[in-house]
Amino acid sequence: MAEISIFVGSVYGGAEELAFTLAEEIKSNNHQSQVYLPGTVNDVKNATHLLFVTSTTGAGDIPAELEALYLELNNQFPMLTNIPYGIITLGDSSYDDTFCGAGRKIDLLLQELQAMSCIEKLEIDACEDFEPDKPALIWLKSFLKAF
Ligand SMILES: Cc1cc2nc3c(=O)[nH]c(=O)nc-3n(C[C@H](O)[C@H](O)[C@H](O)COP(=O)(O)O)c2cc1C
Repeated sequence: MAEISIFVGSVYGGAEELAFTLAEEIKSNNHQSQVYLPGTVNDVKNATHLLFVTSTTGAGDIPAELEALYLELNNQFPMLTNIPYGIITLGDSSYDDTFCGAGRKIDLLLQELQAMSCIEKLEIDACEDFEPDKPALIWLKSFLKAF
């Protein structure tokens, strides 16, 4: 059984709602999870399994509260060596170059902190998937098998 720490960034609530849906599904798969909105550097450092669920705002930006955590992580630079992580990003492909930029930034930082990407991040396009739960729950199955 794994304990998965879910860090959430959301502006209008879509990513937050998705995070709680994922937490329920994690429980049904006999694992545990904790949702952080958005949590602290210590919460990240103490995690055994990391899952970031974030939308993208502005021009490829991380929603404000999660961005504050991202900046703290970038400043303190705690090594997260070999901690498995996954990322789900909500975005909209009509934003072209900045599509799902929030998840891409978080992915780069986690790689720099030596965390272990155990599965390719999921980018959900609001233009294609009106219900983010569907692709996210399929992805979650693979994520739970990947560590
Ligand atoms: C003001 C604004 C800026 C956005 N900027 C981007 C962006 O740069 N890239 C992207 O992929 N999606 C962008 N989006 C789309 C959102 O990420 C997408 O609608 C997401 O589903 C919102 O999730 P939330 O309800 O958790 O905030 C933007 C949406 C808004 C309203």
